[in-house]
Amino acid sequence: MGSRQFGRAVAFCGIMLLSPAMAQLGHRPGISTSTLEVKDLTGLSIKVPRVRIPHTTDRNLAGGSAYLQWRDPWLGYQLGKDLTQREFQLRDGVFGRAVSNFSGKLPDGRTPTIVANDQVSCGGCHNIPYRDAGGGVNFAKSGGLGRNTPHFFGGGLVEMIGWQVRLQLLAQMDANRDGWVSKAEMNGATLAVAPAPGAPPIVYGRNADEDGDGRPDLNAIFSVWYVDGEGKLLRAARSLSDASVAGFNFFTTIFGWGEPGGGLNPTNRAFYWNPIHAHTGMQANDPTSLADPENDGLTGVSNAGAQQVWTHKPMDYGLETNSVGISIDDPDRDGAICEITEGDLDMAEWYMLNAPRPGLGRQTAETARGQARLGDFGCLSCHVPNWRIQPRNHAPADYTQAYPGDRRFFDFDVVWNASTERMEGRLVRLHHYENGNEIPNYGGFLVTGIYSDFKHHDMGPEFQQVLYDGSVQKLWRTAPLWGVGSGLPWGHAGQDMTLDGVIRRHGGEAEASREAYVGASEADRRAVVAYLESLQLYMTDQVPADIDGDGEISEHFMVAGRDTGVERLNAEWLFATPLLIEGPAVGGDGSVVRSSAGTNIAEAYGQHLPYLRDRDEDGFPDVADEAPESRGFLDGVRNAPAFYYADLNGDGVVDALDLLVFREYYLTTP
Ligand code: HEC
Ligand code: HEC
Repeated sequence: MGSRQFGRAVAFCGIMLLSPAMAQLGHRPGISTSTLEVKDLTGLSIKVPRVRIPHTTDRNLAGGSAYLQWRDPWLGYQLGKDLTQREFQLRDGVFGRAVSNFSGKLPDGRTPTIVANDQVSCGGCHNIPYRDAGGGVNFAKSGGLGRNTPHFFGGGLVEMIGWQVRLQLLAQMDANRDGWVSKAEMNGATLAVAPAPGAPPIVYGRNADEDGDGRPDLNAIFSVWYVDGEGKLLRAARSLSDASVAGFNFFTTIFGWGEPGGGLNPTNRAFYWNPIHAHTGMQANDPTSLADPENDGLTGVSNAGAQQVWTHKPMDYGLETNSVGISIDDPDRDGAICEITEGDLDMAEWYMLNAPRPGLGRQTAETARGQARLGDFGCLSCHVPNWRIQPRNHAPADYTQAYPGDRRFFDFDVVWNASTERMEGRLVRLHHYENGNEIPNYGGFLVTGIYSDFKHHDMGPEFQQVLYDGSVQKLWRTAPLWGVGSGLPWGHAGQDMTLDGVIRRHGGEAEASREAYVGASEADRRAVVAYLESLQLYMTDQVPADIDGDGEISEHFMVAGRDTGVERLNAEWLFATPLLIEGPAVGGDGSVVRSSAGTNIAEAYGQHLPYLRDRDEDGFPDVADEAPESRGFLDGVRNAPAFYYADLNGDGVVDALDLLVFREYYLTTP
């Protein structure tokens, strides 16, 4: 062998692990004078290395997920956002040993739905705008045309609408209030929900199985499951007429354009662990989503208050745990354990729940005309503009009245300011300080301009999609139109490069509406498009904004005594310990710039808090590390299987013996 060869291989590993190149992509904490750390004087890159966040429910455990949500909610928000932007790497467990390349199944039961293991970050697809919950690229999913990535601005409001609709339907269906609908309770009534006061009710189906297909006649957005006479889940049952089935239960699977079987994911939490598994090959161990002690199909309720459901279970079951209680199942057998923790999901969900909603651009006489035409053309029968989130009901008569209220901790209102001629934001706090905690107000909220009835519709031949297996998908969720003005391309398969084009593609249930649009004057059609173009996304931390509630947007917003420039919604300014920026500095070419790199990152980001501290920097916080002071490549103790490494001992094969050589080197080299 070579010791020469060995030396090179190890040096390569050494460089990877110990020098600046260790930094994860997008992780650039350095200030202007840094020589060891990768820098970003704009301050926009991720500032802390990845540390798995421990799940806690005790808010006093500093650095745990409950603490981050209730004591330092902006830090929790930022860490959650980082989880959607970070480009994960091998040591985090990206991809898997059996790199499947494919996952999910189309109706033929065999043809895979997607190319799996295709991205190392949510931001790889959710990219317009960059560094936010944006959308805008197609990838290989479902059929040859691919699937268009939607934005998830305002995702918390969507989730809350889904839960509220479920309660409101159960109030009409579950007469004896035992939590499920028995066959005897299926009385044929038409089921409808008024989205906002004074708005026409939306019909979601009938409390019956009139078409005799074994499934209650509910819109496809609802995932239905079947239960026995006690309301207990019958996992194998697929129809009301199956043996032992006494009734059913259901959930609003509100996210996604539409699948052959309905919606894609029911909650924000599921819409983190599912794609991070499907695209990035990282499996979550999440007792919150797994536990169903009552066996009624409703699993845990997250720290942020979102009910999870049995139809969507993450892959790492935690069957085997190590001495510090973390799962060592490693379902994809890549050597990295507990790739996504329950606490990571708490934070990702916290960010997604609070992700700001889209903004409203410049309004003119033309946009006003366009907005009015949406009503005239019948667009609003599906693109329902406003939804009311009910305030928390503190004395509910029964579970169907137990509205949780708006669970977000802030709202961000972004509109065009005619006098300054720019988009401007206003931070509205929806939480208050009480006994040391930041408590959401759980009030009501009128969601305006979301433009969806959250139903699936048959949209006619032009919107039909022939899937890889030859199935034809006809039903699509009414695309919420908020943010649609920023969204080229349009449609579930990104087929249209213009708004006019995607409107003309409507048919089926929208045929009359399409005809009204096509038959209208050109001025009216332009007005509709002009209005839709004013429904905009924006960079959440760049748009000028009033975040201190003084009614103004400062040009020199002071944080910890430093001028940070134009006031804007940078979560770091609102941390329990705000980020202190470097300030005036000399850039690489000698320019003098305001450096927004942080000088107190460890303190601001709580890196020393007991539950976040990671002394050996292996991505496992000390509290969840069997060997907190000796860094392992993947998990702090168990190193990756040998297939990751070179033929270190030169015996001609890459095997476990190489791993021993690697370990010996690694554990004895500082
Ligand atoms: C490979 C590209 C890709 C990656 C990576 C990706 N997504 Fe998506 N995302 C999509 C597409 C495409 C859809 C629509 C899927 C459909 O309905 O068929 C989507 C839908 C969503 C939605 C639902 C939006 C809505 O309006 O219903 C959310 C939320 C979401 N993604 C969050 C995430 C998060 C969080 C991650 C990272 C853990 C992620 N996505 C990673 C492409 C991607
Ligand atoms: C019968 C219900 C229905 C009616 C009526 C309707 N739409 Fe839609 N609309 C949908 C559905 C469903 C989609 C999603 C189609 C898909 O999956 O690509 C959609 C998509 C869109 C999109 C593309 C959104 C995106 O993000 O790509 C626009 C724009 C739009 N509709 C505008 C209109 C306008 C304008 C009208 C009235 C002229 C109208 N729609 C009438 C159901 C409807």
